[in-house]
Amino acid sequence: MGSPLPLAMAGALGQNRVAPALHEPATMIPLQLFDPASSSYTYILHDRATREALIIDPVDAQIERDLAVLQAHGLTLRWAVETHNHADHITSAGLLAEHTGARTAAPAGCGIGTASRQLAPGDTLVFGGESLRALPTPGHTAGSMSYLWRSHVFTGDALLINGCGRTDFQSGSARQLYHSITQVLFALPPETTVWPGHDYQGRGHSTIGAEKAGNARVAGRSEAEFVALMEGLHLPPPERMGEAVPANQHSGLRHDAGATGQPQPRTAQGYAGDVPPVLAWQWVQAGGAVLVDVRSDAERAWVGEVPGAVAVPWKQWPGMAMNPGFDAQLQAAVPPGCKALLLCRSGVRSIAAAQRATALGLEAWNVLEGFEGDPDQHAHRGLRGGWRFHGLPWRQG
Ligand SMILES: [Fe+2]
Repeated sequence: MGSPLPLAMAGALGQNRVAPALHEPATMIPLQLFDPASSSYTYILHDRATREALIIDPVDAQIERDLAVLQAHGLTLRWAVETHNHADHITSAGLLAEHTGARTAAPAGCGIGTASRQLAPGDTLVFGGESLRALPTPGHTAGSMSYLWRSHVFTGDALLINGCGRTDFQSGSARQLYHSITQVLFALPPETTVWPGHDYQGRGHSTIGAEKAGNARVAGRSEAEFVALMEGLHLPPPERMGEAVPANQHSGLRHDAGATGQPQPRTAQGYAGDVPPVLAWQWVQAGGAVLVDVRSDAERAWVGEVPGAVAVPWKQWPGMAMNPGFDAQLQAAVPPGCKALLLCRSGVRSIAAAQRATALGLEAWNVLEGFEGDPDQHAHRGLRGGWRFHGLPWRQG
């Protein structure tokens, strides 16, 4: 545990600041970032040649920081990966995917149906010339996985520094966790660096050798002793469990603001508000409002479009790069005094676009649910809300 702090950690521990240091150390180590509210660690790994990156266990409240870190290091996010379905915080994986064009991945046994890659044991995620390998480590939850990258292992809530994750809810099993730690993780080379999902005492990383020798929960204990210890913990449930687990089953994407059918002011968030699709269409037909489709050209062509909507892409393929002409195209599309109603795939990118439109002086509204709505438990869109779901006019692009 005595090695130097990783690149971003000194600036990130206990703070929401972006790491200032952009030099890269000689050895390949992950960027470690911390969410103080949940004591959660998030990790960013990247390939030095291509600058392609992968993020493990991102936290919703830290999305601005994480996007800024990616930008500061010149990284293109390819994957947002979960170690398990978290009970103590909400993931930003879905939002990161919307903002960056990255894909989401999660262990197949975690019930996160929105993840585009459902990971089986031994599966790898490739980013540039690097890859991350999935190592099943059930016990904290039945689907939990750890991930191996070079000589580093990201253990989620299976193995913590001098501790381990709890096993008393969410399909947890002390017996399984004992096996995962002692037979799977402790079988790794002793010099492997352990990067945990949490630490509540400010410690950043450990090694397999150190945990094997001294982990207070596991070292020197039989399976029966470990099970008895875990069953005797009687921990209170995590504060946000009721909210976090269902949200995380959808990669953290929630669109509950449209339930009333009324517009919801969002001036504190930097735009006029959220408007349900049916009401947005009424505003357009009444005059005085322009529907602005901020999806990429490719999305409109593949999925369909709304007749009469103006196309002003927020980001474009390849790579979902920012559209440098967004400001000028938007200002040309929306006459003074008209509302701008911003529509994207599921109502996430359109929030960023509405904030930008507001900064440009427009009255900008986010159309809830987007064109396709949220994905269902099988990752199919169009069945749980969205422009088409509500029977509003559209045509194949
Ligand atoms: Fe957890």
